[in-house]
Parts: sequence; C-alpha cells; structure tokens
Amino acid sequence: MRSAGIERDNVAMPEIPLVVQRPQSGLSLHAGAPLSRVKTDSFLAPTRRFCHASGNRNNAKANMTNPRAQAQEKKAPLGRRVREGIKRFFGPWGMFVRGFIKHPVMVGSIVPSSPTLIRHMLKPVDWQNTKLFVEYGPGVGTFCRPVLERMAGDATLIAIDTNEDFIDYLRKDIRDSRFIAVHGSASEVEAIIAAHGFEKADYVLSGLPFSTLPAGVGPAIAAATHRVLRPGGAFLVYQFRARARDFLAPHFARIDNAFEWVNVPPCFLFWGWKD
Ligand SMILES: C[S@@+](CC[C@H](N)C(=O)[O-])C[C@H]1O[C@@H](n2cnc3c(N)ncnc32)[C@H](O)[C@@H]1O
Repeated sequence: MRSAGIERDNVAMPEIPLVVQRPQSGLSLHAGAPLSRVKTDSFLAPTRRFCHASGNRNNAKANMTNPRAQAQEKKAPLGRRVREGIKRFFGPWGMFVRGFIKHPVMVGSIVPSSPTLIRHMLKPVDWQNTKLFVEYGPGVGTFCRPVLERMAGDATLIAIDTNEDFIDYLRKDIRDSRFIAVHGSASEVEAIIAAHGFEKADYVLSGLPFSTLPAGVGPAIAAATHRVLRPGGAFLVYQFRARARDFLAPHFARIDNAFEWVNVPPCFLFWGWKD
C-alpha cells in the first residue's frame, strides 16, 4: 500500500526526538508532485525557468508586437533583475549556503558533495533490487538527482531533512512521482516509511553531520537504520570524520570503508551491510 502523501502541520522542527514514534504534529510528510519528470541536470534549470516564464507562444508573440508590454517589461527595476539573475545562476548552491548560515551545526558543511563522491558512494548499490531508497539530510538534493537517475521506474526515494527550507525547495525543484520529501528527523525513519506504505528499506544514505548532532541522536539514528533495513541492504554514510564508523559499529558486523579526496573537504565513506 502506498499512501498518496500525508500533510501534517509544518511547525519548526523540535529537538530531534530520541524515541522513534509515529509522526504526529511537528512532522510533515509529502508526496512529490505527480509528474514523471526528473531534472537530471540542475544547470538546465535557468533555461527551463526562462522557458516557463515565456508562457505560451501566443503570449510571447503578443508581447513582441505590443509596445506597451515591451515598455512594461523594460520597467522591471534593475536591482530586482540583478537579484533574480544571481539567484538563478547560483540555484542550489545559494540555497545550500543560506541553509548553512541559518543552521551551521545541523547542516555541517558549506559545500554540497562532489559528483566524484556521489559516484563512489553509490557504486555498490544494487539498483535492480532497490524498491525503497531512503536519504537522510538531502540538503538541496545533491544526491537525490543521481539516485533518481539510477533508480528503477517503480522504486521510491524518501528524503528526510530537519530543515524545512530545504524540504520546500526539494518539493518545488524535483518533479518526479518516485520522489517523496519529508520534513522530519532521521530518527523517525521507521514511522516515516510506514506512513508511506513500506516496511523495510533496501538502502539508507546519510549525509548527516554525525559528529555535531546532539548527544544520543547519532546512536539512535544508527539503531533505527539497522532495524529499518532489509537483510542484504546497506547503510551508506559519508562523513568528514572517521568517527562516523563508531556509530555504525554496534549494529553492523560488516563495514566497508574508503576515503574520497575529490570533495570539499575530502571525506570518509562507510557501507554498513545488514546480514
Ligand atoms: C552536510 S548536509 C548534507 C547535504 C547533502 N546531502 C550533500 O551531500 O550535499 C547535512 C544535512 O543534514 C540535515 N540534518 C541534520 N540533522 C538531521 C536529522 N536528524 N535528520 C535529518 N536531517 C538532518 C541538515 O539539515 C542538512 O541538510
């Protein structure tokens, strides 16, 4: 059973609960827009936005031949046009930096993950046998798009972030019926996937800043993740500190690891396999 998406009150995220419970108020669940269209390249976004802004051809033609419309278009204040141009140019980067300035401890990094790190982290995933992929801390969706590109047509990606601005951004930016952005904490993963009709996840990916999370939250997330994974599934973790492995070790008997230099900053990669 797949729910069509549940809307709950969007209130500011409380301190991350240590107890996993069914989501009530304070957690917003949302199914992605029902369009089967993935934005595969965020650099195309400005072009697309421009196309949308042009409206239909008749309007565009009318504007070209209507001197009043032309004059009005010219009247748009220069400051606003410059601001909008900058916003379009920086897109996800600007959003990510704003998120970092607002919540530096929760976001933990000022630069989104590099394409090399993404490829490295996702390499061992068996996409043929992936029905549910969960991501913690998607930020502006740096991993979401590559995951959607690799995922089968009938698979689902649930992305969970405590930052409501990022979730709003993702819901608007990623138009794919396989994508669900949830405003909540990773520690609530079991309740969140159950609310969308799933019992188990095949893979869980984490970009969480484990080392800066409030005391007790990291261990609670690692334990919940082990419970939610199917046998044979894996917890994929990338972190700037090797300490992240300590959170996985009590639950995952087999942990593969690697180091990726091509990222700012370079970081540790862990794959905790559930036997
Ligand atoms: C370093 S950013 C990762 C950004 C992105 N995944 C990337 O690779 O560029 C960490 C993200 O974790 C989110 N976050 C922090 N604590 C969380 C929690 N308990 N549950 C879910 N997301 C959390 C932050 O809001 C932020 O978006």
